[in-house]
Amino acid sequence: MIAPHGGTLAYNFPSREERKELFQKAKFLKKLETNLRELCDAELIGFGAFSPLSGFLKKDDYESVLSGWRLKNGVVWPLPINLSIDREFSRQVKEGEEVALSYQGELYALFTVEEVYSYDKKREAQLVFKTIDTNHPGVGALYSQKEFYVGGKVTLLKPLLHSTYRDTLTPRESRKEFQRRGWVKIVGFQTRNPIHRAHEYLLKCALEISDGLFIHPLVGCTKEDDIPASIRIRCYKVLVENYFPQERVVLSPLPAAMRYAGPREAIFHALVRKNFGCTHFIVGRDHAGVGNFYGPFEAQEAFSQFKPEEIGITPLFFDNAFYCFRCGGMATSKTCPHKESERLTLSGSKVRKMLQRGETLPLEFTRLEVGEALIKWARESQKSLKRKVLK
Ligand code: ADX
Repeated sequence: MIAPHGGTLAYNFPSREERKELFQKAKFLKKLETNLRELCDAELIGFGAFSPLSGFLKKDDYESVLSGWRLKNGVVWPLPINLSIDREFSRQVKEGEEVALSYQGELYALFTVEEVYSYDKKREAQLVFKTIDTNHPGVGALYSQKEFYVGGKVTLLKPLLHSTYRDTLTPRESRKEFQRRGWVKIVGFQTRNPIHRAHEYLLKCALEISDGLFIHPLVGCTKEDDIPASIRIRCYKVLVENYFPQERVVLSPLPAAMRYAGPREAIFHALVRKNFGCTHFIVGRDHAGVGNFYGPFEAQEAFSQFKPEEIGITPLFFDNAFYCFRCGGMATSKTCPHKESERLTLSGSKVRKMLQRGETLPLEFTRLEVGEALIKWARESQKSLKRKVLK
């Protein structure tokens, strides 16, 4: 089995008995209220999905990640994983103090305040997202953060997201499952969209050369107009049930927040899937991109700045996939000689508009069952929107 990033799984979810005791202790600690994005991070840190991180970044690591895509010890780490606090809280806590992380008033984790530091949002936005444009959803989220960062270790006490979505595996569990199935070459797949035919094409190409697929859709916070996770999960299920050999696929949600950081996030997505036990990872066109902020293959190019052993997991790069009417099937420019006009390509916004108008998506774009699930959702959300307007 492939080693976790940095060598060992940074698992910090104590036994049931220990957690009971820690919960009692947590009740008497200062509460630090997080938002959902931060809670997603804390939960994934606790389960080791972000190994080697065992907590939120301290200043040295943060600076090193921003400037060189590495932790200060040299291990590749492209994205800052941070917890923000306001000035008032920064005055209330001392370094070394343990506090309880809460979300909507409920306790979920313990956190040791190791270092409080200020940061420059504009600088972080430019370095991480390559833009300071607040239309970029990652920049928007960054700008809405509190004034200071606080670095320190996380001990998970209660997983909210892992119990919200059924079949959510922790890295320990997915590794065990791959072992049980006897898989050696395992391809991980990240997605935040319903799986359309282009995605399916990549998945099936990968399945031809591997033992199994880990379809690992991201279900943490996504931008407003992305299709909600609960609907996407319905789409993933019908797709896998109807079009994949069951015994060759593990489908499990990843409760992580989407950053839309293109190249940096592609590396991050790959490292996280390595922690889950994948040996290979699909990176297609405009991975983790949004709008026109990144070039279509910038995420793939980002891998070339590292030695393969520094990343550990092998990226599988794919060209833009589409349906070609002349070929009568899915293809990429590597396999199809025909003209653009003979190919079907639909942008995300075009798809959303078609769904809003109640139009059926073409079968060359989406499988029937997936299209039906999407239309049903679009109709229901239109109805509830009308109800809200009429109130
Ligand atoms: S992402 O933000 O999670 O990257 P999405 O769910 O659309 O968005 O993509 C999942 C994966 O499929 C990414 O690796 C992406 O690059 C790839 N992908 C999506 N659409 C295509 C396409 N038409 N051709 C090639 N790769 C694609």
